Amino acid sequence: MEKIVSLCKRRGFIFQSSEIYGGINGFWDYGPLGAELRKNIRDCWWNDMVRRRDDIVGLESSIIMHPKVWEASGHVAGFNDPMVDCKVSKQRFRADQLFFARVEIIPEASAETTHSDPSTQTIGYVVALESDRTDEELREKAIELKRKKSIRGQLAPIVALDFTQAKPEEITLIPSPATGEPGSLTAPRAFNMMLQTHVGALRDESAIAYLRPETAQGMFADFKAIVDTGRVKVPFGIAQIGKSFRNEITPRNFIFRSREFEQMEMEYFISDQDDWMKWHRYWIDWCRDWLISVGIPAAQISEYNHPKEKLSHYSKGTTDLMFQYPFGTQELWGIAARGNYDLSQHSRFSGTSMEYFDEASKRKYIPHVIEPAVGVDRILLAILCGAYTEDEAPDEKGKMESRVVLRFAPRIAPIKAAIFPLLKNKPELVAKAKAVRDLLRPHLTVFYDEAGAIGRRYRRQDEIGTPFCLTIDFETLGEKGDDLKDTVTLRDRDSMKQERVKVSELLPFLLSKVC
Ligand code: GAP
Repeated sequence: MEKIVSLCKRRGFIFQSSEIYGGINGFWDYGPLGAELRKNIRDCWWNDMVRRRDDIVGLESSIIMHPKVWEASGHVAGFNDPMVDCKVSKQRFRADQLFFARVEIIPEASAETTHSDPSTQTIGYVVALESDRTDEELREKAIELKRKKSIRGQLAPIVALDFTQAKPEEITLIPSPATGEPGSLTAPRAFNMMLQTHVGALRDESAIAYLRPETAQGMFADFKAIVDTGRVKVPFGIAQIGKSFRNEITPRNFIFRSREFEQMEMEYFISDQDDWMKWHRYWIDWCRDWLISVGIPAAQISEYNHPKEKLSHYSKGTTDLMFQYPFGTQELWGIAARGNYDLSQHSRFSGTSMEYFDEASKRKYIPHVIEPAVGVDRILLAILCGAYTEDEAPDEKGKMESRVVLRFAPRIAPIKAAIFPLLKNKPELVAKAKAVRDLLRPHLTVFYDEAGAIGRRYRRQDEIGTPFCLTIDFETLGEKGDDLKDTVTLRDRDSMKQERVKVSELLPFLLSKVC
């Protein structure tokens, strides 16, 4: 992860927001290459989700909506995370991501006893933040505590519990992850994650508005307006890409959990009598295939079905597509069957009927919905993690040296082709290379580079994931005969193979690879 973060900064993909002022936690800026990469992700999703389908239409709703929207959706009352404060360090943690364990010793006389046995002796508590190593970390800390206290006997099995499960009398005994000492953690408290602002000249309660925590409510609030424009028939979807804001307690893991992020959500409306499970499965498979189409390795994607007892009250079923990030396997894309909860709530709160009239059956009903919801930033991070590779390549003299390569799928790569004149001090080569650049530039993002040895120029492009490099040399100018005149060397990033391609064939070749 450290290598990826440092590459992102060094090559202009991602910077900490307001870094010159010390940064602001949970906010990120996308530099020149990051901006291209994000745009490619958005464009691919929009093309595949909206433009290439007959049953889905697009929407761009406003970020700030009527505050009642968030009452109807349940966000004002229920969009809470349990939060724990450390009174000494002033750090704040999410209670469900903070794990603790009782450290219990089985007396030597009863080696068969387990932690539930009343004869075990509790010698203290250990704590760890959620990660792939939480259990191991708790165990290591328990062994260390037993050693420090010089207590004999066998350690009972470690049982990790999250902080929401701590009994009131245990709270003061559990050490803070910030200080390592007990006594400074507060009991968990509900914390609403919506960011507030005021609209208009007044600063009182009546002027409070929220920055949307999801784009989804725009689709529900505009459902009637879209149906009334007459272009759609159930089953159909409304898709939107846009910024969302959440006052996350613990923004972390680079851009994985931020306070400002971008969502790509689609609400797919189906008949109340249709088989929702069939559509749920259809959208899970669609999303998985789409992730693979943008270069996310299939082997790093898995499915997680939310257990029935943990589903939101309106959800019939939620499946997350998970990705193996370097910091653990985490949610990438949630596909939820939301029933008709949202439309029913907006009917009740707004007084506007959200019923749909089915012409064929002459029946009125409130449609049910399947919602695939994903974050652009999480996809971008998964793409970066899946693409990052270190291998070896020959230098100018054929000696092998290590190289860093981002193996982006060509359709997602920020730059599709780099164009090099072999030498920068030969005006004919430079002029020809610039002509090739101008030929390709209206259709593709290309980059012209004349600085340094060719090998170094290749390495620079490998590191930012450019799939093709084109070198204009003396053969291109016709100095080695007519056969090679107006051909360039095309070098493939992954195989490092080079071939001669006619300038006239470059554009169709590249377009076939990157579309
Ligand atoms: N409308 C449903 C909804 O918003 P969610 O699971 O809360 O569901 C959907 O969010 C997706 O948005 C997540 O799967 C994730 O990809 C992305 N996401 C959510 N919170 C995020 C955050 N704080 N930072 C970055 N991405 C986030």
